[in-house]
Amino acid sequence: MTVTIPPPPGEQHRRSPFTPTFGATPPTLVGRQQEVNDFAYALDNGPGSKGRATFVTGQRGVGKSVMLSVYSQIAATRGWMSVNESASAGFARKLTEARLPEALEQLDTAHLTTSKTIGVNATVLGVGGGFTNRTESTNTLVPDFRHQLMRTLDILDKNETGLLITLDEVHRSQLDELQEITDAISYAVAQEAPIAFVGAGLPETINGLVNADISTYLRRAERVTLENLTPEDTRLALETPIREAGGEISDAALDLAVEGTGNYPYLVQLVGDESWRAAAGGDIRESHVHAALDTAERSMFRQIHEPMIESLSGREREYLHAMTNDEGRSSTGDIARRMTIDAQHASVYRDRLLTEGVIEPAGRGYVTFAVPYTDSYLRANTGRAQASHAEVAASRERPATRTRQSPGQSRYMQETSPRERLFGGTGRSSSSDSTYQDRQRQQRETRREAGPERER
Ligand SMILES: Nc1ncnc2c1ncn2[C@@H]1O[C@H](COP(=O)(O)OP(=O)(O)OP(=O)(O)O)[C@@H](O)[C@H]1O
Ligand SMILES: [Mg+2]
Repeated sequence: MTVTIPPPPGEQHRRSPFTPTFGATPPTLVGRQQEVNDFAYALDNGPGSKGRATFVTGQRGVGKSVMLSVYSQIAATRGWMSVNESASAGFARKLTEARLPEALEQLDTAHLTTSKTIGVNATVLGVGGGFTNRTESTNTLVPDFRHQLMRTLDILDKNETGLLITLDEVHRSQLDELQEITDAISYAVAQEAPIAFVGAGLPETINGLVNADISTYLRRAERVTLENLTPEDTRLALETPIREAGGEISDAALDLAVEGTGNYPYLVQLVGDESWRAAAGGDIRESHVHAALDTAERSMFRQIHEPMIESLSGREREYLHAMTNDEGRSSTGDIARRMTIDAQHASVYRDRLLTEGVIEPAGRGYVTFAVPYTDSYLRANTGRAQASHAEVAASRERPATRTRQSPGQSRYMQETSPRERLFGGTGRSSSSDSTYQDRQRQQRETRREAGPERER
C-alpha cells in the first residue's frame, strides 16, 4: 500500500491535552495534595525541617519524576532555586561543574533583570543586591561538590533564597556518588544552610540505600511512597483536561475510561490521549474509549514492559513466567517448585526482580507484579522467551479459567474486568463485572463490524 502524508491539521484542530510521556507534567495533577503540603511546610519551616530531605518511591509510571518537578515548582513559589539531575554515572561531577554554576548564573540573570526593570519589586528568586561577578568566580576552578555547594549556598543565603536539589532515577550502582552528594548536603544542613534534597527511585532501590547505612542523612530522610490514584482523582484527571481543551466525554465513556486505567497515572494519560485521538477531538463516546484501551495496552507493552523484561536474564524471566500461573499474588515456594530449583536459589532471582522494580512483596512469602499488565505482557510474549521445562510444567498447572493470550490479542477481550486484569486478578468476577463485560464485548463487536473509527 502506498504511503501518504496527512495534510497539516486545520485551524479547527484541537490538540490532545494529555501527556503520555514519562516525566511530563500532566495537564491536571491530582491526588498528591498531602505530599505538596508537606514539602511546602518543610521549606517554610527552616533548616531543621525533616521534609527537607525526602525520597520519593513508587512503581514505574506512578509519577515520581512528575513529583520532582512539582517539588521544584513549590520551591520556586518560595523564591528557591532548583537544580535537577538524573543519577546516571557521573552525576556528582555534572552537578558540580554544570548544574550549580548554572544556578548561580540564573541568580545573576535574575538579579540583572530585576535591576533593569523599573517597577518590579521582587523577582521569583527574591534576589537582593550586594553581589558581583558571581558567574566569573564560579568558573575559575573545578572544585569538588561540597566546595561548590557551600559556595552556592552562601551566595543564595545572602540573597535570602535557598536551593533544592532533585535527583531522579536513583540507583544502587551509583552508591559512591550518592554518598558524596548526600555527605555534602548533610554537612550543609549541619551549617543551617538553606538546602533541600529530594531523590526518586524504585522502592527496593530506596529501601536498599536506606538500609545499606551509607549515611545517617539518607536513613533519616522522609519517605514519600506514591500510590495509584483514587477513582475520583482518576475521573478528575481525565475529565478536566478534556473539558478545558473544549472537548466532551459522555458519563458512560468516562466510567469506562476510569475503570480501564486501573487508576494508574501513566495509563490515565495514555487512555485519555488515545480516547481523544479516537474521537478526533470531538465528543468522546464509549466506542472511542474501547479503541483507546486496546491501543493503550500495546503502548504500555512497548514503553514499559518491553524494556523492563528484555533487560532481564533468562532465569529472571523464567521466574516471572512461573508467576503467571497464579491469580493475584504468587507464593515464592510455589515459584521455586515450578522452576524446579530450591527456595534459596529462587530467592536470588526474586531479590534481583525486586530491586529492578519488576515485582513487589505481597505479604510474607508472596510476591506480585509491580507494574500493571505484566502478566498480560508475559502471556502475550511467551513465544519470545525461551520456554524452559519449568515453564512448560507451569503452563500445565494453569487454571482452566485463564485463557492463554496470543500476541496482539487484547486482554480486554478476556473474561475479566479491567481492574482485575491490571492488578493480576483480585478474585473471581463479580456479577456487576459480567454485566460490564457483556456490554464491553457487545460494543467491541459492534465497533469491529463498523470498521475503524480512528483517524490514523
Ligand atoms: N498525579 C498525577 N495525575 C495525573 N497524571 C500523572 C500524575 N503523576 C504522573 N502522571 C502521568 O503519569 C506518567 C508517568 O509519570 P512519571 O514519568 O513521573 O512516572 P515515574 O514514576 O517517574 O516513572 P518511571 O519509574 O518509569 O521513571 C506521565 O505521563 C505523567 O504525566
Ligand atoms: Mg521517572
